[in-house]
Amino acid sequence: MRRKLAAGNWKMNGISAGLTELQSLAATHADADVDILICPPATLLHRAAEIAQDTSIRIGGQDCHANAAGAHTGDISAQMLGDAGATAVIVGHSERREDHDERNEDVRAKAKAAIDAGLTAVICLGESLAQREAANTLDIIAGQMSGSIPDLATGENVVIAYEPIWAIGTGKVPTLEQIGEVHDFIRARLERRFGEGVGRSVRLLYGGSVKPGNAADIFAVPNVDGALVGGASLKAADFSPIISALETS
Ligand code: PGA
Repeated sequence: MRRKLAAGNWKMNGISAGLTELQSLAATHADADVDILICPPATLLHRAAEIAQDTSIRIGGQDCHANAAGAHTGDISAQMLGDAGATAVIVGHSERREDHDERNEDVRAKAKAAIDAGLTAVICLGESLAQREAANTLDIIAGQMSGSIPDLATGENVVIAYEPIWAIGTGKVPTLEQIGEVHDFIRARLERRFGEGVGRSVRLLYGGSVKPGNAADIFAVPNVDGALVGGASLKAADFSPIISALETS
């Protein structure tokens, strides 16, 4: 049985005052039946981890460097994230693929670095609108999977997030059939590459405009094991009903 996961990606949002949202989330979901992960900006990570200590919430980073240490001004290694209290890190988010020209091989190296540092790598995949309209979504996903997922992936050290780029921050959501098609495809490919045991144990999240109003429907889709939530994870009042929907799914 895969344990469900509600993950929040705060992106470049949040200063100290925002930590009260984390406190209220922790208080509301003290006995959560699902895993909860919040990925705040790096500047808040350590304090967020202190708040989350002894609660049901885990803290993650939003990116890491592929190297463990060295002359890379402004970058943060997976080991540093772990030292600050993170247990996971998002890699290959489409905003990083676009803003920082990250290619599949970069994402794979980052995922491997995360796993080597004892973190869970939340590896993001997803097609653009042009790719969706050209009907090659599954080809794109297949290429991203082969290129971005390291060979040492297991159900413990890797989570996959399917995030259609055109659904991120837009309020547009794929149909439930479209989400199901991609998630089934990812599951089948994982089983083929890693064997049934590992392939069935990796959690698959959907991401892109998940809100309290659509979460329950999305969580009812087979092979959707949770969500990676951006905008609606910033406020406890929005993220909390998403967590509750996942618990009852
Ligand atoms: P969104 O972002 O929920 O604001 O669409 C999702 C994400 O980018 O992870």
